[in-house]
Amino acid sequence: MRDLIHASARELQAHDYTPSQIESALESVFGVDTQLIADGTYFVAESTPAGSPPVIVGCGGWSKRKTLYGSDRWTGREDTLLDPRHDAAKIRAFFIHPAWARRGIGSLLLDTCEDAARSAGFQRFEMGATLTGAKLFRVKGYAPLEPIDVPLPNGSSLPVLRMSKQAWPPRLIPTEKTKRAAIVEHPNKKGAPICQTTNQQFIKYRISPQEPANS
Ligand SMILES: CC(C)(COP(=O)(O)OP(=O)(O)OC[C@H]1O[C@@H](n2cnc3c(N)ncnc32)[C@H](O)[C@@H]1OP(=O)(O)O)[C@@H](O)C(=O)NCCC(=O)NCCS
Repeated sequence: MRDLIHASARELQAHDYTPSQIESALESVFGVDTQLIADGTYFVAESTPAGSPPVIVGCGGWSKRKTLYGSDRWTGREDTLLDPRHDAAKIRAFFIHPAWARRGIGSLLLDTCEDAARSAGFQRFEMGATLTGAKLFRVKGYAPLEPIDVPLPNGSSLPVLRMSKQAWPPRLIPTEKTKRAAIVEHPNKKGAPICQTTNQQFIKYRISPQEPANS
């Protein structure tokens, strides 16, 4: 997953950030937050091409904790649990492999996260969106709240946008691609929920806390 995140940031953010901003962010703010995996709130999308082993093509999650963004190496973490009655669930760490971008996978993962957070009682969602991510989140109904300058280890900063959306009523704004890829629930061999698109192309599943994050 680490390789996927590096490829995703380096290629897909190239229009929004400089190479040095991206490299420095990959050392600190971008990456896997294993707390999400431990909480069972991180998802991956897999492609299972006929006759080949499955390959992870995207990842993304949500959080019931205060931290707005950041990997395990990010120092500004706040693991305090949120109160779903008052606080917004955090949408976290979305990365799609560049070879699979603009195929509706980010949207599919986002819908999955929103459904799960809504089921946990949250009334609102928010995130610290990269300028690249904001293009997806705007289309999915998120409004910008404030710009944030995330300090980077190389002394520069990364402009991101805090964005938010009400959880109710569910405002599913499917693109043509995701309309064709409605989600069906399946029992997973590990007992965790698994979602599979109707076209059988992508399988989404909740990462088990036992699975190594860098596999
Ligand atoms: C942001 C990201 C997750 C989007 O994933 P994706 O799977 O490509 O998104 P989707 O295919 O679901 O896009 C749905 C819609 O969002 C909008 N959108 C998504 N990416 C866009 C882009 N780069 N430029 C313009 N619009 C975009 C489009 O309207 C798109 O529909 P369309 O392709 O039919 O025009 C992906 O670009 C990514 O991983 N970026 C690098 C990492 C990153 O910055 N993550 C965000 C962290 S907050």
